[in-house]
Amino acid sequence: MKKTLLTALLAIFFAQVFATTPPDEGMWLPMFVKDYNYAKMRSLGLKLTADQLYDINNSSLKDAIVQLGNDGNGFCTGEIISKNGLMLTNHHCGYESIANHSTEEHDYLKDGFWAKNYDEELSNPGLTATFLVRMENVTDKVLAGVTDETKKGERESMANKAIKELQNAESEGGRYTIVIKPFFDGNEYYMFVYEIYRDVRLVGAPPSSIGKFGDETDNWVWPRHTGDFSMFRIYTAPDGSPAEYSKDNVPMKPKYVLPISLKGTEMGDYTMIWGYPGSTDRYMTSYEVRSLLENQNKPIIEACDVLLPEIRAEMNARDIVRINYASDYASMANTWKNQKGEYASLIKLGIADKKAEQEKVLLDWINADKARQEKYGNPLAKIEKACSEVDHEAVRAFFYGNFTLMNSKTTFLPYNLGNFRLGEGEKSFTEDQKAELLKNYRENMKGTDIVTEEKVIAAALRLWKQLPVEYQPDIYSYIDKKFKGDFVAFSKAAVEKSIFGTEANFQKYLDKPSNKALEADPLYQWFASVLGTLIQYQGVYMESKNKLATPRRKYMAALMEMQQDKAMYPDANMTMRCTYGTVCDYFPSDGVHYKHFTTTQGILEKEIPGDPEFDVHPKLKQLILNKDFGRYADKDGTLHVCFLSNNDITGGNSGSPILNAKGELIGSAFDGNIEALCSDIFFDTELQRCINVDIRYVLFVIDKFAGAQRFIDEMNIVE
Ligand code: ARG
Repeated sequence: MKKTLLTALLAIFFAQVFATTPPDEGMWLPMFVKDYNYAKMRSLGLKLTADQLYDINNSSLKDAIVQLGNDGNGFCTGEIISKNGLMLTNHHCGYESIANHSTEEHDYLKDGFWAKNYDEELSNPGLTATFLVRMENVTDKVLAGVTDETKKGERESMANKAIKELQNAESEGGRYTIVIKPFFDGNEYYMFVYEIYRDVRLVGAPPSSIGKFGDETDNWVWPRHTGDFSMFRIYTAPDGSPAEYSKDNVPMKPKYVLPISLKGTEMGDYTMIWGYPGSTDRYMTSYEVRSLLENQNKPIIEACDVLLPEIRAEMNARDIVRINYASDYASMANTWKNQKGEYASLIKLGIADKKAEQEKVLLDWINADKARQEKYGNPLAKIEKACSEVDHEAVRAFFYGNFTLMNSKTTFLPYNLGNFRLGEGEKSFTEDQKAELLKNYRENMKGTDIVTEEKVIAAALRLWKQLPVEYQPDIYSYIDKKFKGDFVAFSKAAVEKSIFGTEANFQKYLDKPSNKALEADPLYQWFASVLGTLIQYQGVYMESKNKLATPRRKYMAALMEMQQDKAMYPDANMTMRCTYGTVCDYFPSDGVHYKHFTTTQGILEKEIPGDPEFDVHPKLKQLILNKDFGRYADKDGTLHVCFLSNNDITGGNSGSPILNAKGELIGSAFDGNIEALCSDIFFDTELQRCINVDIRYVLFVIDKFAGAQRFIDEMNIVE
């Protein structure tokens, strides 16, 4: 009696705490949409059948969803918008390709790029487009023979062995790429069968003054006026199969093409987004949240605060630096602002306390039953302990090391060269070795700016000084001895005088190599010292993560059992997901109401002539002033630029299609909002919004601004 009453009471209590899961939260796996989400999607307005969304026997919407990657490693999403393999994604997703094709004479970053015919479409070695063929739950196969008693290491090796076997069995002789990933902290495993296309060409991009309008100031911010889109085309071998680039390749004939709607949206309209979210940690515990603030957010912000302004200043000063550093800088600056936003919103919204409340409920649930106590123990105590043991300074050093290497092309150069040290007893390099090293040198030095590099290295030396002495790289004694402690003099020498500083110096070294010369070389010393420090503390960092693996898996298993009647979604891990919701506004702070869309009026309001972030292209300005919006105008007569929805997305989703109730394309998702940047850890229904560029603005830019009618003609536009 008592037990039942207690269970009932607890059940109500759990229901209250956990049923707060908001209706539109979640990044759902396509194969479960029919069972878990479809009814809710219909009630919000969806008109398609579940099979029209995801079907493995017939073509369905999922066949238009592309993962954009570097050699198959995904970083963004794209979608198929024509029967000739035209793919839409974000400007910031195509940015690296656009930058790679840019020179001071052909500055596609600044001026945009529109291929006038197939011959002008530009190939991008390494860029890949991945399609999902099907997915399957393979938990039973991967964890066959694993029990609660199986030790962590053994569990991992059993799982890895099973994964290898499955990969071999399913790849059909290499036609498919088989990816098997853990879900729910390793409690489940799913297999993804992919087809990867390797000839992906750049066909269209607006100037950055449209595609990146507002740049860093507006990044992660609403209201937004960015035309964040670019277009690529996927090519195949003449028989339609995936192939490496060849001039004989032909435009892809896709299985499914998204129709495009010109109707626009209203508040409350159904929306869904399909794409490849990269990483979330929604089930993170309160202990980990507190640790994240101190041991990740803060060190990353510290490093970026010191390093990035140096690069920005040089980019602002010289076009050649702007072009060559654009892509790396943009992604670093994006991380910088993201980490600041995550830190601030985690604190402001009291996320650690909210998590602690949920954890208490879970612990009570475990403790209310003997069998559960035996099965799960107290995973939270183990997580707490692991978090309290993290060596804060070591983890800071780990992040400083990473950000030093990522922000300085020169510091990282020796790492990329291959073996430039003589082996035991060797006196010289063979001609082949020399040629190879020189080739790598040229490739890696391309676009490197000496002044920028000197400034970054000097800044990094100041950054590392923020750590206690015992965590600093050992370079400082060398600098004290040889440069009287002068960071600027050292970095000048490291870049200009070093064996690695100029091609002439490097050639001289190749002709007369000596390990002794390396030991005396300032850049080599610097590189070796930073890398050594990084490797040392990477070990500490990994160890602290490892300690969390088993208790997190148990915590997750308990959570899943406690909520077994409720559909749970797994954390994002670069696999295809669907999120559904509606168009909606929000209230960022007391007394402030943000409307759900912006118009071109705001572009003129934000205009700062000549400013690198807010300059407006004269042609765009004229079109706006003339209200020359053609069929892309809203029924209110204005041209909408961006709109908001409450879809649940994260990094990796960039470029994802946002679709209406009929599955027609209404925009491209490209950002989140600063007020809710804790979204990778906690979804706040009231605050978290997804920022989309309106497809009508995209088409307006292609058609009216660029006059690139050929692309419009190949699309399926529904008026
Ligand atoms: N915040 C966007 C994302 O993470 C990237 C936006 C790129 N734009 C920029 N100004 N850096 O997907």
